[in-house]
Amino acid sequence: MDIRLLQPSDLPLIQHANLENLPENYFLKYYLYHALSWPQLSYVAVDASRPRTSPYDHPKIVGYVLAKMEEEPADGIPHGHITSLSVMRTHRRLGIAEKLMRQSQRAMVETFGAHYVSLHVRVSNVAALRLYRDTLGFTSDKIEPKYYADGEDAHCMRLDLAGVRAQIAEEEAEQERLLPLPAANGKEDAAEEDRDEGEPVGDVGRDPAAGEMKKVKVGRSLGVGTLVEKVESAVAK
Ligand code: ACO
Repeated sequence: MDIRLLQPSDLPLIQHANLENLPENYFLKYYLYHALSWPQLSYVAVDASRPRTSPYDHPKIVGYVLAKMEEEPADGIPHGHITSLSVMRTHRRLGIAEKLMRQSQRAMVETFGAHYVSLHVRVSNVAALRLYRDTLGFTSDKIEPKYYADGEDAHCMRLDLAGVRAQIAEEEAEQERLLPLPAANGKEDAAEEDRDEGEPVGDVGRDPAAGEMKKVKVGRSLGVGTLVEKVESAVAK
C-alpha cells in the first residue's frame, strides 16, 4: 500500500470513495478547492499491488484524507482541519486511516506551522471515535447539537500538535548531526554558498506607473466561504 499526496487527477476517485463510505458528500469543486489551496495536506492510499496496464488505467484508491487549514480561525491560532477521512471496507483495520491522519498532521505543522488539528465526527461513529480518541489522542471539546443535515450531533474534537513539532525538531537536529551543512566546514565554503551568481535586476520590467502594490481580497471574500461542509451536506441531502 502506498500513501502519497493527493493529485487533482485523483479527485473523481476520492469523490467516489466518499460517496461509498460517508453520508457527508461534497461537490467536486470543494475537493478541488482543497487540492489547490492546501496541496500539501491531503493524502491518498493507493493499492500498489494492482499493476497499471496503460497510462489511462487509474490507480485504485482505497482511502483518503481531505484536509485544510482553517482560513479564519476564531481563536486566531493557526490550525488544520480534517474535512473528510475514509477507507474502503475491503481495506479496513490495516492501519491505513491512522497513517493518512499522521501524514496530514505532520504536513500541517511542517508547511503551515499548525498548532492543533480539529474535526467533527458523528456521536454514533464508534470506529472513527476509537481511531481519533484512542489511537491518535484527540479529545472531545464539546458536542455540537444537530451538526449534521439529518439532525445527528457531532463531537468537536482536537489534537494538540506540539508532539509532532517536537518530533520534527528532533529529526532535524539528528539530520544536522549526521550531515553537517557545508557552510559549517569553513569560511571559504560559507562564502561560496553566499555568492550571488546573477547581475542585479534593479527596476527592469517594473512599471513605474503601477505604483504601490495593492492588497486584494481572495478566497472566502470572493464567495468560496459558502462551500463549508455543513452547507454542502445540506445541499447533497
Ligand atoms: N471498531 C473499533 N475500533 C476501530 C475500528 C472499528 N471498526 N476501526 C478502527 N478502529 C480503531 C482501532 O483502535 C484501530 O486500531 P487496531 O486496529 O490496532 O485496533 C485504530 O482505529 C486504527 O485503525 P485503522 O486501521 O487505521 O482504521 P481504518 O483504516 O480501518 O479506517 C475509518 C477507520 C476511517 C473510521 C473507517 O472505518 C471508515 O472509513 N469508516 C467510514 C467512514 C468514516 O466513518 N470516516 C470518518 C468520519 S469523520 C471525518 O471524516 C472527519
